[in-house]
Amino acid sequence: MEIQLWREILNPYELAVKEVTTKFENLVKEHRNKGLYCPIERVEGRVKTISSILDKCQKKKIALEDLEVRMRDLAGIRIICQFVEDIDKVVEIIHNREDMEVLQERDYIREMKTSGYRSYHMIIYYTVFTLEGPKRLHMEVQIRTMAMNFWATVEHSLQYKYKRNIPDHIKERLLNAANAIIMLDNEMSSVRSEIMDAQLSLRNQASIVSDILNNIQNLYRVANKREIVKIQDEFYRVYSLNDIDQLERFEKQLDIIAEGYRAQDISMEMDVP
Ligand code: GTP
Ligand code: MG
Repeated sequence: MEIQLWREILNPYELAVKEVTTKFENLVKEHRNKGLYCPIERVEGRVKTISSILDKCQKKKIALEDLEVRMRDLAGIRIICQFVEDIDKVVEIIHNREDMEVLQERDYIREMKTSGYRSYHMIIYYTVFTLEGPKRLHMEVQIRTMAMNFWATVEHSLQYKYKRNIPDHIKERLLNAANAIIMLDNEMSSVRSEIMDAQLSLRNQASIVSDILNNIQNLYRVANKREIVKIQDEFYRVYSLNDIDQLERFEKQLDIIAEGYRAQDISMEMDVP
């Protein structure tokens, strides 16, 4: 097939990967902005490379005319979660979305593959809009924990190194590692709420501090230097107390001060004839 034709086929898949990746990333951002825990830790996306498309066509005897119908992972999204529990939440989110239609699901978490591989797989329909009009295409979504991802990445490199014939003694080690991953995920789940609390308050503190610094920076335009220095010193004092409640109180006070200046600023602007 001509290179130009490949590009034509793969372009919509490229677009789909970009769009869906952005949509999930935005979901993460929305959660963070609202101080909510997000079941998604990170999103990755890729379009299958031409060489791996050709390999798979050969292996599965797929004719190039049937490519888009039979190869349903030309576009692939991987959603990485912190905890096993998060995976079900992500699955639910995808089911509830109107821009994604679930076609097939495979739960390799409740039923691990013989290799030791674990992940939740979904094939979805997603529509992109091109010059030729709307195009509904397949997409593979893999949802897994960070630990499962670690295992799959390592095992994938070994598959590649041994040309899919991993020696038995290494296979055995991989299975041991897969079982250790199950234990690790379970252990992490058992302290999930502790970890979630800690992470949320860390993010919360970071966002309060950045809000305060923004406000102080804006004050430079309107307040006098002496007052700003006073506010800054007060900020450093409160910060060193290591007390999130005090920091929050300071943030609110600063908001009121900034609001006052803004009001003054506007009334001054309106005085100008
Ligand atoms: P493929 O022809 O590989 O797409 O298999 P399939 O269509 O039967 O789908 P399956 O759900 O088995 O696998 C889809 C994808 O999951 C693969 O392309 C890999 O990315 C991943 N995967 C499946 N099994 C394994 C495994 O044993 N190890 C690793 N590392 N990844 C796997
Ligand atoms: Mg597949």
